[in-house]
Amino acid sequence: MQHRFIFKQYSYNYIIMYRELLMGTDSVSKIRINDLLNKMTIEEKIGQLCLVNTTGGSHLEALKNNLKDGKIGAILNEVNPDVINELQYIAVKESRLGIPLLIGRDVIHGFKTIFPIPLGQAASWNPDIVYEGARISAIEAASQGINWTFAPMLDIGRDPRWGRVAETLGEDTYLISVLGAAMVSGFQGTKLNRKDRIASCAKHFAGYGASESGRDYNTTNIPENELRNTHLPPFKAALNAGAATVMTSFSDLDGVPASANEFLLKQVLRKEWKFDGFVVSDWESIKQLSTHGLTPNDKESAFEAANAGLDMEMASQTYSEHLFALINESRISMQQLDTMVSNILGIKFRLGLFELPYTNPPDFPELVNENHLAAAKEAAIQSAVLLKNENNVLPIVKESVKTIAVIGPLADDGYEQLGTWVFDADERHSQTPLNAIKEISGEDVHVNYVRAMESTRSKSSQFFSDAIDAANNSDIVVLFLGEESILSGEAHCRADIGLPGNQVELIKQISATGKPIILVLMAGRALALENIVNDVDAILYAWHPGTMAGPAIADLLFGKVSPSGKLPVTFPRVTGQVPIYYSQKNTGKPVTPETYMHIDDIQPRMHQVSVGNTSYHLDTHYTPLFPFGFGLSYTEFNYSHLVLDKNEIHLGETINISAEIFNKGCWDAMETVQLYIRDVSASVTRPVKELKGFKKISLAPGETKVVSFQIHTDDLSFHNRKMQRVTEPGKFIVWIGSSSNAELQSEFEMI
Ligand code: GLC
Repeated sequence: MQHRFIFKQYSYNYIIMYRELLMGTDSVSKIRINDLLNKMTIEEKIGQLCLVNTTGGSHLEALKNNLKDGKIGAILNEVNPDVINELQYIAVKESRLGIPLLIGRDVIHGFKTIFPIPLGQAASWNPDIVYEGARISAIEAASQGINWTFAPMLDIGRDPRWGRVAETLGEDTYLISVLGAAMVSGFQGTKLNRKDRIASCAKHFAGYGASESGRDYNTTNIPENELRNTHLPPFKAALNAGAATVMTSFSDLDGVPASANEFLLKQVLRKEWKFDGFVVSDWESIKQLSTHGLTPNDKESAFEAANAGLDMEMASQTYSEHLFALINESRISMQQLDTMVSNILGIKFRLGLFELPYTNPPDFPELVNENHLAAAKEAAIQSAVLLKNENNVLPIVKESVKTIAVIGPLADDGYEQLGTWVFDADERHSQTPLNAIKEISGEDVHVNYVRAMESTRSKSSQFFSDAIDAANNSDIVVLFLGEESILSGEAHCRADIGLPGNQVELIKQISATGKPIILVLMAGRALALENIVNDVDAILYAWHPGTMAGPAIADLLFGKVSPSGKLPVTFPRVTGQVPIYYSQKNTGKPVTPETYMHIDDIQPRMHQVSVGNTSYHLDTHYTPLFPFGFGLSYTEFNYSHLVLDKNEIHLGETINISAEIFNKGCWDAMETVQLYIRDVSASVTRPVKELKGFKKISLAPGETKVVSFQIHTDDLSFHNRKMQRVTEPGKFIVWIGSSSNAELQSEFEMI
């Protein structure tokens, strides 16, 4: 019989008040942890290390028995609050020691209210947007009994062939660090002390984004210097923000998979960073150690992972099947086991689960309520990036059009607009661009809609004639193209990141009508667009915008608000340019306009050394199609007066760098002012520039603001050949501007 659990109605305020009391319980919880450890059997200790997937049905009965026996410490993928409360009740009331469960779920960019994919949120360059999205996601997930999410993903996203670039916060270490910390704070609050906050998980530790050829789960070889200067800082920033847990990556890092990598898990995470939460594997990534070829069998995999400092095993059972023997053989010590269990119990205490293990949904705000939808819409608005706007096609002026053709498979698809990793979303909540455009158009403007393609991968041109007719009978065309959601995300990598299916042909045929064309692109990655960029008048890159895609895009198209997004990744012209990112090294032979010669310009039988000779591809221009940090507005911003308050600084000092930004247009608009710095020469080569600060500001028409950045010499530090974090004397070049192509330039010397 399904238990119906009637819990005493915890008032929402009572829950909050009681949790506030838990804040200063670290010392108390340490005493309680030791008390539990002294009572626990080895089997019960091993049980705490097991994160079990709940697939429901008969599996659930077996799971309940294991709960009673104390063989499970956490579950993932159960989202029914009654079932969660029931399982918690068994753990708390029917097991010998009553240790509550962690309830994990991938709440990556929303639970029921879906926000833009993380790569889209990153395009907002707004920590407040990211914070609010995580906070609302936590409220909705916690209301159902979830107390742990597997986010933020902090991997560096520099290869758009990789499907998981959709889940990253972009290509840049600094941007990811700032936004990742904001996401942690949104999920957790200050100290996990509220029932509507959930534990975060900094993943995938570490270097996963460097998977060779952008193929998921592939090998990564990252020199320690590059690992420390590029890949690790976002994780450190997340831990500084209080991230409760860390998840290891699937990937092999320099020959030692992350799930058995003692350097990562002990040297960096514990010894250097003093991390006091717990480490969880990725899905069966401990069992996969033998597949990698690191171990001969599951028992050795369990040994390698436990010995490296991996506390909790997700989905596979090598710990539950082999740790007991490893302890009996003294290969894993009781002290090691107690440390693993203590790390996990510590988070359970910090979450206050021993006092308040259950949830009561009526005590929480309604799912997908108006406030949550409004926040999702604002996030989608601020995430969209205006990449092109010629002939003033945008914004659409209602009074000047009679008919709008809306064409494409992503104009009216409430599921595809949500993007990857949306297990708990309900597309019935989605508001699509087509409906929103119709609503804004009202009676004044007729909307001609043609889907034209069954999906973004369709190779058929069967319905193109309908689309062309619609275009010919309209004043303006809005195309909704890109990638359906399944084409990005885990294990969904593409060797060619052009527009899928027959979309290019559709664009060419619509372009041939001569009508003004606005291309709205939804995608989970940067797409290679050089082959169509000149066939349209405007491009609005919306990523996968989530539940409120429609109202957000419609407000932008009709000028209710100006676009303000900036690219968090570099857009290549063609796939062959990948990886291409702004913070590259200079090389010994950097390309210049003088040394660049395109393949088509090479004269027959030119002498071998007369062409190229610098770092570029003959068959494409050496610049990206759109640079990191780029994004247009409906207004124009003028940057001037770059001022440094000193030209020389000593180690330990701070320099103030400012510039004036003037809104020369007639639009209220937001602009992300970006600060880049180059360390011109150092004991290891440094990038040609690095983002060191950004501020998103609002400017009224005609308004000027001075934006200032304070840079401490620590902000200029890097890991040298000896892996020491240092700032070295020398010349630094400074830029402030609206993208990584910033032109306002100055310099200073550290002496
Ligand atoms: C997956 C992902 C990881 C996710 C986990 C649980 O394979 O790599 O990011 O959190 O399994 O779903």
